Amino acid sequence: MSASLPSGLRAAIDRALEGRTRAALAAKAAHLSDIYRAGGNSHTAVADEASALAYALARMPATYAAVAAVLAETGRRASDFSPQTLLDAGAGPGTASWAASEHYPGLTAIRMTDASPVFIDLARRLACEGAHPALRDAAVAPGDLARTEAALAPSDLVIAAYVLAELADAACSEAVTRLWDACGGVLVLVEPGTPAGYRRIIAARARLIAAGAVILAPCPHARACPLQEPDWCHFATRLPRSRDHMLAKAAAVPFEDEKFSYLAVARAHIAVAKAEARVLAPPRRSKAGLMLKLCRDEGIADVAVSRRDRAAFTRLRHVRWGDDY
Ligand SMILES: C[S@@+](CC[C@H](N)C(=O)[O-])C[C@H]1O[C@@H](n2cnc3c(N)ncnc32)[C@H](O)[C@@H]1O
Repeated sequence: MSASLPSGLRAAIDRALEGRTRAALAAKAAHLSDIYRAGGNSHTAVADEASALAYALARMPATYAAVAAVLAETGRRASDFSPQTLLDAGAGPGTASWAASEHYPGLTAIRMTDASPVFIDLARRLACEGAHPALRDAAVAPGDLARTEAALAPSDLVIAAYVLAELADAACSEAVTRLWDACGGVLVLVEPGTPAGYRRIIAARARLIAAGAVILAPCPHARACPLQEPDWCHFATRLPRSRDHMLAKAAAVPFEDEKFSYLAVARAHIAVAKAEARVLAPPRRSKAGLMLKLCRDEGIADVAVSRRDRAAFTRLRHVRWGDDY
């Protein structure tokens, strides 16, 4: 299991949910899912406080788990990076800010921006119950990523999680440039793990490489992505579901697999430990050993690890989808 919501955030959500019936929230959550699945955005899906609460209950655990998984990998690739300032652009209820404050306890200032007044209100309510001082004192303000004239606040760490999906293609490219301009250290983009999410990540990747960004993850190289359609680069994280989360999603099992695509890039002065390869799919295990689908400098390769090669098999037997190699 991967990162579940920190207890302080769960408690803050529970308090925000007080007085709401679970049936009403489940109906709102189902409505949200229908809109997101049909390609709609938060502007349509989250029009009132109850919908924002339904998002916090039904979607935030999964987007939190994805951001936490990406920050963990970012930390492995840039272990000396210790940001003091964070910009969480398109913060929603503050998901990435909560994940970053867990991962980077040295943060001293958090800024969240969002286009939605109801998300801004909820992000403020939740953050003021945070254990981390930077979360409690977070600046939470309206901000439209699609408005090119407004500069973003310069920050060591910039995160845009599940946001590019909500912008038109042209606005998306401009937003990536503005996010990078604001970034003094590391920029993290997370998108749904769908072909469309991957395409947005790949377009952002080309733009960022051209602007001088150094790739931290997931790619072990800065060449053109070697994956051929209909294949797409994505990963998954399994998260536990609380009873309320199960009710909100009418779920039968106490866990959920969140699929995501992502990109973490750094400014040139950040020290980066390069990955040799990335595991692009769940390893296939058999009596003979393991088959790994890898992305490497040379391209995509299926690599067999035989049990008879005891040193390699022992080193790789627990390797998982998304790990470096
Ligand atoms: C799917 S939610 C993701 C929220 C949060 N980042 C997360 O990972 O849970 C998308 C967020 O992007 C925000 N958003 C959409 N268009 C935006 C824009 N043009 N500028 C700023 N935020 C925007 C929405 O209001 C919403 O909060």
